[in-house]
Amino acid sequence: MTDRDDKTKDASRSPLTPPDETAPDGIEEKVTDAEPGNAPKDATHSEDPGSADVHPSEYKKIVAVLDNPGKKAVVEARDVVVRYGPNTILNGVSFDVYEGEIFVILGGSGCGKSTLLRQLIGLETPAEGTVKIDGEDITHAEGRDRERILTRIGALFQSGALFGSMTLAENIALPLREYTNLPEDLIQTLVSLKLDLVNLAGFENHLPSEISGGMKKRAGLARALALDPHILFCDEPSAGLDPISSVELDHLLIELNRSLGLTIVVVTHELDSIFAIAHRVIMLDKSVKNIIATGDPRELKEKSTHPFVRNFFNRQSDGVGSA
Ligand SMILES: Nc1ncnc2c1ncn2[C@@H]1O[C@H](COP(=O)(O)OP(=O)(O)OP(=O)(O)O)[C@@H](O)[C@H]1O
Ligand SMILES: [Mg+2]
Repeated sequence: MTDRDDKTKDASRSPLTPPDETAPDGIEEKVTDAEPGNAPKDATHSEDPGSADVHPSEYKKIVAVLDNPGKKAVVEARDVVVRYGPNTILNGVSFDVYEGEIFVILGGSGCGKSTLLRQLIGLETPAEGTVKIDGEDITHAEGRDRERILTRIGALFQSGALFGSMTLAENIALPLREYTNLPEDLIQTLVSLKLDLVNLAGFENHLPSEISGGMKKRAGLARALALDPHILFCDEPSAGLDPISSVELDHLLIELNRSLGLTIVVVTHELDSIFAIAHRVIMLDKSVKNIIATGDPRELKEKSTHPFVRNFFNRQSDGVGSA
């Protein structure tokens, strides 16, 4: 079997696979003492020494800095290489996501953000490198081991990806029916709790077509949370939403992070959202096929010396940068 053959792995059995989503649709790192948006200040976030741009060749040093015994890495990506045919999309990407943080993957269109997310959640297997979830290698896990890892993570895709012919309750019950042996009355209770969690209490019997775009996203979020994941992954959660629904969704993510201690990994290029929710970011770049900056987005905006990073955060367009 070639790398290419092995790329899409058992997606149909994954609790992460949405029904209408086709899978392929001395520098130190730091987070400032400032509160990350509305998110809570976490002791683990104040120990970092400084935010900075990173040349890819420097990144391994940063990983070493991040391997700090005071923080527990719940996602560990190491030297991840992704190729589609002759095209290398990501070339040796390494980073950690810490327990309890909101971690944002950003970068220009086509730089590989969604591709990276698919490797993190096991929808695809990188050509090289590993991804560990809670210390377990998802890239090589199979069978029961793989299923166990997958039940620890939830995913919200761009479309919300609900089954249109099913009520919200039926949509949210799906992963519970497939991955647990819980009795029906308990499933119904859990469904109502999850809907409550995303401010959709009482909407059990609505069809997706009967609710707004923002509500659909929140229902998708409720389904992603059905199995009480430890880590939530979201790809462009605000895409297609009006500004108010977008802000509401950001607040909901912050609330879930605060109240449940949920670790959240978000792909987005929405600047307002990045500043509102992110504790830390990594920025990918299409030309180097790797990370070009990491740290607190506010610090990167102010202090970055990398032209593309500065332009991204200050939304200038002078043709500098490739991502
Ligand atoms: N299954 C696939 N087969 C071949 N090429 C792919 C596949 N998936 C993604 N690509 C290519 O990989 C590159 C990165 O795509 P990706 O969708 O990850 O970018 P992105 O950063 O998420 O972009 P956007 O911000 O537009 O969503 C693109 O050039 C894309 O065409
Ligand atoms: Mg994308």
